[in-house]
Formats: sequence, structure tokens, C-alpha cells
Amino acid sequence: MEFYRNHVLVCGGGGCQSSGCHIIRDRLIDSIKKRGLESEIKVVVTGCMGPCSLGPMMIVYPEGIFYCGLKPENVDIIVEKHLYEGVPVKEYFYRDPYSDEPAAAIHEIPFFTRQMKIALRNVGLIDPLSIEEYIAFDGYFAFAKALTQHKPEDIIRLVKESGLRGRGGAGFPTGLKWEFTAKVQGRPKYVVCNADEGDPGAFMDRSIIEGDPHSLIEGMALCGYAIGANQGYVYIRAEYPMAVEHLQKAIEQARKYGLLGSDIFSSGFAFDLEIRVGAGAFVCGEETALLASLEGRRGEPRPKPPYPAQEGLWNQPTVINNVETYANLPSIILKGPKWFRSIGTERSPGTKVFALAGQAVNTGLVEVPMGTPLGDIIFDIGGGIIGKKNFKAAQTGGPSGGCIPAGGLNVPVDYESLREWGTIMGSGGLIVMDENTCMVDLAKFFLDFCQDESCGKCIPCRM
Ligand SMILES: Cc1cc2nc3c(=O)[nH]c(=O)nc-3n(C[C@H](O)[C@H](O)[C@H](O)COP(=O)(O)O)c2cc1C
Repeated sequence: MEFYRNHVLVCGGGGCQSSGCHIIRDRLIDSIKKRGLESEIKVVVTGCMGPCSLGPMMIVYPEGIFYCGLKPENVDIIVEKHLYEGVPVKEYFYRDPYSDEPAAAIHEIPFFTRQMKIALRNVGLIDPLSIEEYIAFDGYFAFAKALTQHKPEDIIRLVKESGLRGRGGAGFPTGLKWEFTAKVQGRPKYVVCNADEGDPGAFMDRSIIEGDPHSLIEGMALCGYAIGANQGYVYIRAEYPMAVEHLQKAIEQARKYGLLGSDIFSSGFAFDLEIRVGAGAFVCGEETALLASLEGRRGEPRPKPPYPAQEGLWNQPTVINNVETYANLPSIILKGPKWFRSIGTERSPGTKVFALAGQAVNTGLVEVPMGTPLGDIIFDIGGGIIGKKNFKAAQTGGPSGGCIPAGGLNVPVDYESLREWGTIMGSGGLIVMDENTCMVDLAKFFLDFCQDESCGKCIPCRM
């Protein structure tokens, strides 16, 4: 392993790619080379760091200095002044949109400080392609603890006690799903990850896989141990090439370290993972359609029961969970269900990642405790409405969701409260509308994704 005095993490999320982060990365590498600093400074491209509207952006560690809105020529100055002379460059710091005050480091910027990260804990912090860095941040400790100190049924009990609910949309209790699958007699059993991420505007799963792929691998391996499965599959959309690449490399590293394969931690337990790339059909995010597609058949949903727990992949007992669900699991096993339950609400423990979009000042990915008031997400983290216009409504839950009007800004964002307001959590899409937003335009936007004018559930159908 090589050691560097600084790590510079460049955001490579979808928003930053659109604003030219690859040009920034190339210029950074070039400039570092010209200054002869390549043995001292490591440049890392990672998944979405969160504040998409501020891209292109990068963070210089260990100080955590955050540079945003970068132009290629700014990079040379940052290399010269900050990375060579050791003096951070104030001109390219984040500035508060209202007071214009500069803030140097991520721990000084409300967008970051008001969040609580469990699923996104390592994204934007570590090199996603370095298993050593993941391990340095307690990675694979939960898996080691599970295999050396716990029986499979203990893991299921801990997950049940944590109250973790699936983050893919329906909010089904994860521990219960694992227990059903563990109790079914048939073998082999399978662990499947739903990384199809079809909801318009949602990109939290992409960010986790691009920025911290080992957290998904560890979560799936824990599931494999708990239910008695030795093989897992990640079904991921083809539109996420960086996520596929990072995950493939992470799987190979985990195999090399003996964390995937046979007799892991000398426990006798074997587990391995493979990636299957889907073609990006919205319907293939539905679990039974996904399993059909994984088997090489046409991706069409089938009636349930039987549930995947009973008859899943190749008719065998299968757990299928979402990426964010799996990414929560290592922390739950390591820190315990009581810790997890201390965050969020009684019936919706833990955090949830939201993709904040629309007319908010700070759009991007945010992770907050369940039950955080909607207004806090939009105004404290999101920085309010662009141009100080009036807030009209927030749309949550993707095409099957609904809108919360201005009177609902105090709504605690959790599964139950959103249902009471006629909408759903879904996978965490959150579109902010100002007084001028046209609802018909929003409906048309969703129609492009649903493509089924008679589904009866999505927003255009219900209008
Ligand atoms: C039309 C449709 C699309 C879906 N798309 C996704 C998706 O993209 N990602 C996802 O995780 N779950 C999606 N789901 C939910 C899955 O069917 C399933 O409930 C989920 O993968 C279970 O994982 P969880 O318990 O961890 O949430 C979709 C459901 C429906 C009905």
C-alpha cells in the first residue's frame, strides 16, 4: 500500500459528469505531475458527494477542504497554492448563498453538517477502489464479527430488533424477510441485490456503489450467512458504467483478501458474488420482473405469492433487497440494534437517503434521520427555494407517489406520516416545487418513466 500526504477526492457523480468533472480530474492529474507531486498526492474519482448543484467539486483530505464550482484553470492555482505551498485557496471555497460567507471545510457547511450518514458513511470520504481504506474505516468488521461470534439466527434476530425496513420502496421489515427465507427448506438459496434504481431522479444506490462498493458486498455477505446462501447476484442497470466497474473491482479485491470465496475467516462459510447488467427497463426494478430478467427471461412481474423468499431465483428461496438496505447492515451488526433504533422514529428507525431535486437551492443527495421534518430537509439542508420564491409542494416517492403542499412542511418524513399525507417514501425521490412549477409538466415527466397510461397508480393516471 502506498502512502500519500493528501488525498483529493473528485466527485464523479452524474451531475458532476454533466458539468465536466472529467476535465477537472485530468487537469488535476496533469498539474500535480507538472509540480512533481504525484508520489505525495493521490487523486480519487468517487461517487456523488451530495451537493450536485455545486459541481464540479473536490475535497482535499485530511483537512476536508471543499472546493466547488471549479473551472479547469482554478485547478492549477489549487495545486500550486494548496497542494504545493499548503495554503488553501479561499476564492474557490463554498459560499453561503445568502450571506456570501466562505466556508472552507465540509464540517463547516450546513449541507453536510445537518446530515447523518449511515448508508453514505464512506461516500466522498474513502477511495472506493481501495479495500484497505474500507477496512481502515471498520469495513468487514461486522462480517468478521458475524462469522466468528454469531450464529446465523443471531444475525437475523439483530436485524429484526434493529427495525430496519427495506429502502427500495415498500419498507418491508428486512429481518422478517430474511427469517422467512432462512426457514424455507429448499437449497441452494440466493441473495439478490436490486440495483435497478428506476425511480426518476433517484441516484442514491448509484452513489453507494460508485463511492463505497464494499459496503454493499459486506451487507450481502451478511445476508448470505444469515439465510444460508452461498451465492449472490447484483442486478444493476447498464446506465451506471462507473458503478459496474467499481463493484467488479471491489468484488475482485474482496476475493483476493479471502472475504469472498470459501472458508471465509476460517468459519467454513462460503460466499461469492456476480454482477448482472440490466437494460434499464423501469419494470425490471419490481422484484419478480427483476428475477425473471436475471434468469434471462423477459422482465415481466408475476403475481405473488409465491414470494421470492419461497420461490425466487430459479425457483429457489431468495432474499432480494435494495442497495441502501444492504449498505445499512454492517453498521447495524457492528454497533447493535439499540444504536440503530436510537436514530429515526419508533416505526421507521435509522436514516433515509433522499435525492433532493427541483427548485431547492442545494439539490443533491442527502441522508437524514427518519422523521426529520420535510421543511428541515428543504430549507436547512436544501437552502430553501431558489430566488426566495414561495414553496408550492414537494413530490415524494417517484411515479407512484404524491405531493405534499405547503401546509405539510412540518410532516416528519417517515413511512407512516407520508402515507397519511397520501404519498409514499418510495426510494427517496424528493422534488421541490416553487409557486411557478407547473403540475402538468411534472406529470408529463413521470409519464416518460411509467410508459403505462393505464396503470392507475402513477401521478399522471390519477390526475
Ligand atoms: C414498478 C416497480 C419498480 C420498482 N423499482 C425498484 C427499484 O428500482 N429499486 C428497488 O430497490 N426496488 C424497486 N421496487 C421494489 C422491489 O419490488 C422490491 O420491493 C425491493 O427490491 C425490495 O427490497 P427492499 O426490501 O430492500 O426495499 C420496485 C417495485 C415496483 C412495483
